Amino acid sequence: MNVYDSARMADVLAPLGYRPVDQPDDADMVILNTCHIREKATEKVFSELGRLRTLKVQKAARGGRMVLAVAGCVGQAEGAGILARAPYVDLVFGPQTFHRLPELVARAAGGGVLDTEFPAESKFDFLPEEQAGQGLSAFLAVQEGCDKFCTFCVVPYTRGAEFSRPAGAILAEARRLIRGGAREITLLGQNVNAWHGEAAGGGGGSWGLGRLIRALAELEGLLRLRYTTSHPGDMDDELMSAHGEVPQLMPFVHLPVQSGSDRILAAMNRRHRADDYLRRVGRLRRFRADLALSSDFIVGFPGETDADFALTVDLVEQVGYAQAYSFKYSARPGTPAAELDGQVPEAVKDQRLALLQERLNHQQLAFNEAAVGTVMPVLFDRPGRRPGQMLGRSPFMQAVHVTGGDHRPGTLAEVRITAAHPNSLAGRLAGADAAVAAEGDALPAPEVIA
Ligand code: 5AD
Ligand code: SF4
Repeated sequence: MNVYDSARMADVLAPLGYRPVDQPDDADMVILNTCHIREKATEKVFSELGRLRTLKVQKAARGGRMVLAVAGCVGQAEGAGILARAPYVDLVFGPQTFHRLPELVARAAGGGVLDTEFPAESKFDFLPEEQAGQGLSAFLAVQEGCDKFCTFCVVPYTRGAEFSRPAGAILAEARRLIRGGAREITLLGQNVNAWHGEAAGGGGGSWGLGRLIRALAELEGLLRLRYTTSHPGDMDDELMSAHGEVPQLMPFVHLPVQSGSDRILAAMNRRHRADDYLRRVGRLRRFRADLALSSDFIVGFPGETDADFALTVDLVEQVGYAQAYSFKYSARPGTPAAELDGQVPEAVKDQRLALLQERLNHQQLAFNEAAVGTVMPVLFDRPGRRPGQMLGRSPFMQAVHVTGGDHRPGTLAEVRITAAHPNSLAGRLAGADAAVAAEGDALPAPEVIA
């Protein structure tokens, strides 16, 4: 989401004459777009600000001026605290006010500007159309914020209440992204499957994500659709059945469970039990047998015992993940869990994380190895390091290195997988397709070679 937001900030700033540069050294403005989800991410902001201060001082010595801004969830959560701790920062704003950047930048001349409001109006009503194409694989924010209030999580406080963009605006943005070269679109939201936006077509009513995905799948030129991140409780039948009915919808779902212990899930306020989650997974797989899953896990939530943790490992064994993220619980100021008794010692968290990651890595490698010998469609996105080599993604988000053809970015071709590694696959163009793919089809005209 921050990658998407940063691109939209660049869109807002373009009419003022700003354009993105690769290095901050001589920039007229540096915006740190920040994450508050765990303590480590927040700490990084302050060490990065220290480095940027040096650049700002150097630029001033050359007679120039660098506006230094902190955006995103650290800006939202720490607000005036940032200006107090780092007074050389000119501008602090949160995720919901960056459409006001032109005004904020004008005011920044006086220094110390703060805008962490949650405006009644949605920024999406004010953002300009996207400037630069995001390329082959594009993000599209459909939903923002969260009303779930998991007890460990800052998101409901920093991103604010759930908001769903209208379907018409999403379809229009998708069409522009496709015109700009996108072949794959990932729908984004903190709780994306809670999306319930105004229906397209002016007939009134609202749609759910499954309906939106069906409408997006009708757009010509769009080869792949994904969505992230989902809450298990919002996985409705319309969305799950889309996995069986919409070929463009990829068979890979990021569905965080956090823990396998009902006691911990209740303390986390996740609003579901472990068996509810397993039932959802089973139902998804009935719609799409080859569906692969990824998840987020937190170890060492306050009060988590060895027995609770063992239940998480059990759940992992039952699901069999293709990929996963796992984290040590990080107490976040202002969240209910930070106040709970039974905070788990760091050493215990370390042990549990290592054990869990060992299991998850093992599953990821097994998932990759199971692909060897199969043929799967790969969407090529860039040339490899060696001549005749291309890089692309499998339907399950695996990186695939492919040799044996002149296939250009934007081409989708069948690939026979020949080797598996922990984080990637290798393959060659499959049979007759190799010859067809050699003719390729460069952007922007898409062609499915299958
Ligand atoms: N500590 C550790 N991990 C967290 N996450 C969210 N809040 C915390 C926290 N306080 C993790 C969850 C979530 C992912 C985005 O980050 O697993 O799904
Ligand atoms: Fe945070 Fe996700 Fe829970 Fe919302 S559903 S509070 S974003 S962990």
